[in-house]
Amino acid sequence: MSLLRTKSIEQSIADTDEPEYQLKKSLSALDLTVFGVGVVIGAGIFTLTGRAAHNVAGPSIVLSFVVAAICCALAAMCYAEFASTVPVSGSAYTFSYASLGEIFAWIIGWDLILEMFLGASVVAQGWSAYLGVFLEKIGIVLPASVSYGGVVDVPALVLVVVLGALVTLGIKESLRVNLVLVGLKLFIVLFVIIAGIGFINPANYSPFIPPAQASEAATGWTQPLLQALTGAAPSAFGVGGIFAGAALVFFAYIGFDVVATTAEETKNPQRDLPIGIIASLAICTVLYCAVAFVVTGMVRFDQLDPKAALANAFAYHGQAWMATLISAGAVAGLTTVVLTLMIGATRLIFAMSRDALLPMGLAKVHPTYRTPWLITIIVTVAVALVAALTPVGVLEEMVNIGTLSAFVLVSIGVIVLRRSRPDLPRAFRVPLVPWLPIASAAICVYLMLNLSVETWLRFLVWLVIGFAIYFLYSRSRSRLATGVPLSADIREAMERGVVHPDDLR
Ligand code: ALA
Repeated sequence: MSLLRTKSIEQSIADTDEPEYQLKKSLSALDLTVFGVGVVIGAGIFTLTGRAAHNVAGPSIVLSFVVAAICCALAAMCYAEFASTVPVSGSAYTFSYASLGEIFAWIIGWDLILEMFLGASVVAQGWSAYLGVFLEKIGIVLPASVSYGGVVDVPALVLVVVLGALVTLGIKESLRVNLVLVGLKLFIVLFVIIAGIGFINPANYSPFIPPAQASEAATGWTQPLLQALTGAAPSAFGVGGIFAGAALVFFAYIGFDVVATTAEETKNPQRDLPIGIIASLAICTVLYCAVAFVVTGMVRFDQLDPKAALANAFAYHGQAWMATLISAGAVAGLTTVVLTLMIGATRLIFAMSRDALLPMGLAKVHPTYRTPWLITIIVTVAVALVAALTPVGVLEEMVNIGTLSAFVLVSIGVIVLRRSRPDLPRAFRVPLVPWLPIASAAICVYLMLNLSVETWLRFLVWLVIGFAIYFLYSRSRSRLATGVPLSADIREAMERGVVHPDDLR
C-alpha cells in the first residue's frame, strides 16, 4: 500500500539529522518547563478569556479552562511517547512519516500548517487589539477602519511583514530573549491576578454557571456541530456553555506540544519530558484559571470587553495605568508567539518540500541570508493577508480544529505503533494503553464537535484541498517513491544548519 509507505527511521535520521548536527542532550526538566510556558502563553489568555466568558460560559469559563487542560494533558502524553519512539527531532509530521505512513504524515502536516499559519494570524490580531488599547491609553487613536476589527487591520499587517523580514534575514529568538519575554509575560499575568483580587465583587459570580438561554448567535452555521446533529435548541451558557467555552479556550494551550519535540535534546527524556510537559501545562492551567476567576469577578461577564478584557477590566475600575501596563506587556509578549509560529510554519513547509510532497523548488535558499526565503515570503504574505482582512473569531476555531485533529491522529498513532512496531525503544511510555490514548482521542473529538458548523465546513474544505494536492501531486512525486536526490539548495541549507531539524517545531 503506497499510501502507507513509511520513510525508514534510518532515512529520517539521514535526512534530518546529519551526524555533525546531532543535538546536544542538554535540556533539563526546568528548561523544558520554561520553554513550554513561553510558547503557550499568548493571545489566548489575553483576548479569548473575555470573549468566551462574555459569549458562552460566564464565570464558569474557569471550568472550561480545566476541561481544555485535561484534554491537553492526555494528548501531551501521547505526543511524548510518539516523539520518544521515533528518534529524530521534528514535528508530528516527521514522526508520523517514519511510523504511520505517508498519507497520515501528509494529513498531520497539512493540519499543522493550518495550526501554525492561522495561529500566527490570530495572535497577530490579538497583538493589534492590545496595541490599539495601549495607544488609546497614551492618547493616540488610530482610525477605526485601519485598526483591529476594521476593514484592514494595518497594525497586524505591519507586524507580520516586519517579522517575516526578520525570519528571512535569519534572526531567531535567542534563548535569552525568550527568557526575558517569558519573564515579562509571567509578570503581567501574575500582576493581573494579584492586582485584580482587590477589585473582585463576589456578586459577579452569581450565577456561576449562567442558565442556558436561547441564543440567536447560536443558530444555523454558527451553532456547535453537536447541537446541529442532535437537534438541541440553540443555546448559550449552561453546562453546554462550559464545553463550548473549552473548545474555544483550547487555543490558549496550543504550543505545549512543542515541548514534546525536544525529546532528543533532553538529558533524561523518560523522566524530564513528562515532567516538563505536565509542569508547563499545570502552571498555565493554574494561571489561566486564576486569571479567568479574577477577571470574571472584577467585571460582570456580560460587561466584559470581548476584545481586550484583561486590560479593560482594570480600566473599568478606573485604574488607567494598570490597564496601560497590561496592554504594553501583552504587546511585547505576543510578538514572540507570532514569530515562533511563523518560523514553525516555514520550517514545516520546508520539511514537506524536502520530502517532495510539496514542490522541491519552494525550498530555495537565499544566497546571502541562507534562509528558505521563498517559503518565508509565501508564509508572510498569506499570514499578513489573513490577519489583515479576516474576522478573528472564525480563525481561532480553525486553529483549534486543525490542532485537535492532529492530536486525534497522534493518539491513535500511539496505539497503532504499539501493535505494529513493539520492538522500537520508547523513552517515554503512555500508561494504560490503549485506554488513555482512546480517552485522549475521544475528548479531542468531543471538543471538536463543540466547534461551529461553519468551522467544520471550512475544515472539510481545507482537508479536501489537502487530499486533492496529495493525490494529484504529492503521491507520485514523493521522494520516497521516486528516490530523487535532494536538490542542491536543500542539501546546502541542511549542511549549513540553516534548517535544522530543531526548527521543525
Ligand atoms: N497558546 C498560544 C496563544 O494563546 C497560541 O497565543
